Amino acid sequence: MKILVTGGAGFIGSNFLYYIAENHSDYSMVCVDSLTYAGNLYNLSSLISDSRFVFYKADITDVKTIDKIFGKENPDIVVNFAAESHVDRSIENPGAFLDTNVIGTQVLMNASMKYGVKRFHQVSTDEVYGDLPIDRPDLLFTEETPLHPSSPYSVSKASADMLVQAYNRTYGLPATISRCSNNYGGYQFPEKLIPLMITNALQDKPLPVYGDGLNIRDWLYVKDHCSAIDLIIHKGKEGEIYNIGGNNEKHNIDIVKTVLRLLKKPEALITYVKDRPGHDRRYAVDSGKIRAELGWTPKTDFDTGIEKTVKWYLENQKWLQDIEDGSYKEYYDKIYGGRDE
Ligand SMILES: NC(=O)c1ccc[n+]([C@@H]2O[C@H](COP(=O)([O-])OP(=O)(O)OC[C@H]3O[C@@H](n4cnc5c(N)ncnc54)[C@H](O)[C@@H]3O)[C@@H](O)[C@H]2O)c1
Repeated sequence: MKILVTGGAGFIGSNFLYYIAENHSDYSMVCVDSLTYAGNLYNLSSLISDSRFVFYKADITDVKTIDKIFGKENPDIVVNFAAESHVDRSIENPGAFLDTNVIGTQVLMNASMKYGVKRFHQVSTDEVYGDLPIDRPDLLFTEETPLHPSSPYSVSKASADMLVQAYNRTYGLPATISRCSNNYGGYQFPEKLIPLMITNALQDKPLPVYGDGLNIRDWLYVKDHCSAIDLIIHKGKEGEIYNIGGNNEKHNIDIVKTVLRLLKKPEALITYVKDRPGHDRRYAVDSGKIRAELGWTPKTDFDTGIEKTVKWYLENQKWLQDIEDGSYKEYYDKIYGGRDE
């Protein structure tokens, strides 16, 4: 089997490629990533010399190049992680989100149809459902919850989801979609909550917390997201959507305090800043369907996962420094001599 993973130099995509390498030793892996600011080839450094792995620096919106790669590689399975993924950036520049997240998905699906891909999997997010009230803990997002996205990011992901459903229904593309809650773990770019807080705390810099810090997210350890996608691409039913969540609802402020406690840093570093416009209050995912139908269960509880995560960043401070000074961008040229697809 050959699996083509887009966005594999990002946070979840790189964790997923390691997951596949460990759990499917007979698979070959193709990674397509344009290496935006969020793409870091260092994330894949242990795979680069693996004979089962090939990397293409390419943009998923580039029709000709994507066609060429699919024609050459003929993948059996495509998993689309490639995305602009940061809500704050989508508020500054929505266009880039529509290009990559919507048009890029269409380009990949066209190539998947043309080259007879057996399974196209779209990695989506619980943010497509909008938000839930804080005072109704009984309410959870199910796969039937209407789409009600709030930010340009979540609108672009919801649009892509609908396009995937249309390709499945209209053209028979064998597609599945997963909608996951917030992930945490190693290799996450330090603009997102947990790695940003760790990075700042390590440098005794203020930890900026939006608004009152009481927004609630449902946290899932990244490896558990990877195991869920692995199950869906192999056992999930075509045309289906699967929610993935950790049942770990936490206030942002409690996450920040946990990070400080684990790093033995004072809470005085916390600084409340002006809230993000349109900031969703609460996400909470009902993942009963994937648990019942595919037998998925998350293996890492939050206390264990967050300890592992903090330890990962402590042990990989060079990785953080290379991002901070921009030198991570030079790694591709060093390995591949600047060759683009
Ligand atoms: N991080 C989360 O908590 C979370 C939760 C649910 C769903 N998701 C979804 O999972 C996917 C991966 O998220 P992440 O957090 O790993 O994101 P990320 O920002 O860390 O990685 C995105 C990757 O996509 C690549 N990329 C961006 N635009 C591209 C383009 N036009 N062509 C080719 N490559 C491109 C980047 O270089 C980067 O390597 C996204 O689709 C996101 O919507 C993320």
